[in-house]
Amino acid sequence: MPPLSNVAARDVETLVHPYANLVALREHGPLVLEHGNGIFVYDNEGRPYIEGMAGLWCAALGYGNEELIEAATAQMRKLSFAHLFTGLSHDPAIELAERIKELAPVPTSKVFFCSSGSEANDTQVKLVWYMNNALGRPRKKKIISRMRAYHGVTVAAASLTGLVNNHRDFDLPIAGILHTGCPHHYRYAQDGETDVEFAIRLGRELEDLILSEDAETVAAFIAEPVMGAGGVIVPPKTYFPQIAQVCRKYDVYMISDEVICGFGRLGAPFGCNALGYEPHSISIAKALTSGYAPLSAVTVPQSMYDALLEDSRKIGIFAHGFTYSGHPVSAAIAIKALEIYARDRIVEQAARKAPQFQARLAALADHPLVGEARGLGLVGGIELVADKRSKRSFEPKAGVAAQAVRFAQQEGLIIRYLAGDVISICPPLIIAPGEIDELFARLARALDRTLSWTRAQRLA
Ligand SMILES: Cc1ncc(COP(=O)(O)O)c(C=O)c1O
Repeated sequence: MPPLSNVAARDVETLVHPYANLVALREHGPLVLEHGNGIFVYDNEGRPYIEGMAGLWCAALGYGNEELIEAATAQMRKLSFAHLFTGLSHDPAIELAERIKELAPVPTSKVFFCSSGSEANDTQVKLVWYMNNALGRPRKKKIISRMRAYHGVTVAAASLTGLVNNHRDFDLPIAGILHTGCPHHYRYAQDGETDVEFAIRLGRELEDLILSEDAETVAAFIAEPVMGAGGVIVPPKTYFPQIAQVCRKYDVYMISDEVICGFGRLGAPFGCNALGYEPHSISIAKALTSGYAPLSAVTVPQSMYDALLEDSRKIGIFAHGFTYSGHPVSAAIAIKALEIYARDRIVEQAARKAPQFQARLAALADHPLVGEARGLGLVGGIELVADKRSKRSFEPKAGVAAQAVRFAQQEGLIIRYLAGDVISICPPLIIAPGEIDELFARLARALDRTLSWTRAQRLA
């Protein structure tokens, strides 16, 4: 292993990196990025990379967008900070809430702002608990999430997350958070089970869980339309209609975590539009500002707002909020991003480019390392396996997907590895057709190099 560069050595002596193998990082060092333009980012030695993950599923409009930069700087000059506590307000938050109410795929009375996806989902949990206390049903508090879900890392959100490593040694999940089955046909369908039968079984599993827990104690169900960090898992078409029916039957509040899927990622305005269900509320973040500043939001239906009002009459205050709830600079950027999405028909454009993206992705299914290539819209996942026929996975310790990501970086492509040796691809929505071809050409070369490496290491 060559010695670390000066900046890499400074990095490993100073930072605890999120979601990294801290031991491997000390050996390999980080990739240090310096600037970006369009779908490209450049490292500190000037090497360009296609940002095949739009940062972390967020930079929908790519890098260096002058309109967003201008919206941010103009707002910083005008009013760099103002909060929404104790009756203060500002125009960017009001205007953005109006825009979100118009755009939301569900009837929305009010909007609550936070900064991150985790905060949004923690807020969802707290609002549901608070509402059910206000409605005089204090037992109705349990929240059902799913195995392999990703809803963030704060204490409640990490509990909703259904991934072992987010719980292990963190003493999570907290009580009252349950996980039902994951709608991944490739891994969890029974022998010979069709998509439709699989979805029916998962609907029944959810219903059985609600009944075994007692429906009077189950408050909410939360789901990402397409699971992101859990492995880019696209459910069968009939899955969400089944699930929504069960939620309705037992008066379970349904939350759609649109943090990745919102604003066109699946080729529809929101993920729930693409997958055919209507939740009670959505969590949004990421593409809301195209990643130019932190901002997230939760939509509040009228019935919930009425319950919040009731508690303010009783308690005297709605005691929840973050310093940066509705930050004016983030809000100004989001207003501009939403304007660009509408003006440049970004969602329609994403839908138009999706068949090419999905065809290039599907073509990788023939690669000897690829067990399944899956996706929807402009997001894709590739599951690497040791044996295609038996679907046998590699030993997690071998780090095959991590190695593929390193090879991709050498090919000038940034992608991400997820648990279960899945590689995710989620480029900026502004990616051009020629750039999609280039992204997949680089990815194919990285997979070929990974295959040679697994053979040399006697892993396959
Ligand atoms: C679906 C989903 N929900 C929530 C989150 C958490 O967002 P954050 O990292 O901003 O807390 C993420 C992050 O990737 C996500 O993909």
